[in-house]
Amino acid sequence: MSFRADHLLGIEHLAPDEITTLLDLADRYADLNREGRRTHDVLAGMTQINMFFENSTRTQASFELAGKRLGADVMNMGMQTSSVKKGETLIDTALTLNAMHPDLLVVRHPSSGAVDLLSQKVNCAVLNAGDGRHEHPTQGLLDALTIRREKGRLHRLTVAICGDIAHSRVARSNIILLGKMENRVRLVGPPTLLPAGCGDWGVEVYHDMKAGLEGADVVMMLRLQKERMDGGFIPSEREYFHRYGLDAEKLALAKEDAIVMHPGPMNRGVEIDGVIADDINRSVIQEQVEMGVAVRMAAMDLLARNLRARRGAERAGVMV
Ligand code: CP
Repeated sequence: MSFRADHLLGIEHLAPDEITTLLDLADRYADLNREGRRTHDVLAGMTQINMFFENSTRTQASFELAGKRLGADVMNMGMQTSSVKKGETLIDTALTLNAMHPDLLVVRHPSSGAVDLLSQKVNCAVLNAGDGRHEHPTQGLLDALTIRREKGRLHRLTVAICGDIAHSRVARSNIILLGKMENRVRLVGPPTLLPAGCGDWGVEVYHDMKAGLEGADVVMMLRLQKERMDGGFIPSEREYFHRYGLDAEKLALAKEDAIVMHPGPMNRGVEIDGVIADDINRSVIQEQVEMGVAVRMAAMDLLARNLRARRGAERAGVMV
């Protein structure tokens, strides 16, 4: 099996063949989910703990559903009511939970690198559900699966990633993944919302949205992340929508069959016109949510196989 990872911490750690293996399995789970064959036993006897130190709707719900569909015992830690509120550190919290012998730990944390650090302290598989501005690997993978199913391939496509790229872990995971799979990636946004040095990332940078959308196969809109902004990054939301909000006029510059994506949650009327978001002929936003469950099922299935193999080899006294 060409999926060698012990944890899913970021797309940066995955080779193209591992990405393809995961997407192939997720594709099968997506079909089975649609056919109503939703329950499996690949995680039977395993315990999954979800620790979300930041708010989430899509990621937390789909990880919970994915674990339950695969037969795991799933526990959602209520971080607002945990001893973190009494000052317990992330690492002490993780060590405490580790002593209960979980098999899969799903973690979202506001600090970049926190999930990686945690993975070094526990002896189970860790999945990054979003860490600061760093990465959101399952979002990158579900976006890739949605693109592959819609476009029939995941290479030689022109993908315009638009908006608040500076604060976006979704953008970072997508840029890395789409680059590894040999696509042409454009970053489109005002200079204040583009990361310093992004011109060296193997992408094309546009400040003019109309030029950035010209001939694109995929238009990926990003949320304006007001909660991560500590200053005036845009003159006003009205001005931002005028220049960088996706509306019918700007979308008309992309390819006729271009798809519109957004990871959610959306600010309607700020980065995207609600009419475009709801247009079932262009928008694949609901399919992204659907693929989120399938991708998380595939990720946990593959990591559990590796975990079982590693534990089996350790019991047999074999170095892996
Ligand atoms: N896309 C995404 O991560 O959404 P949530 O914050 O609702 O999980």
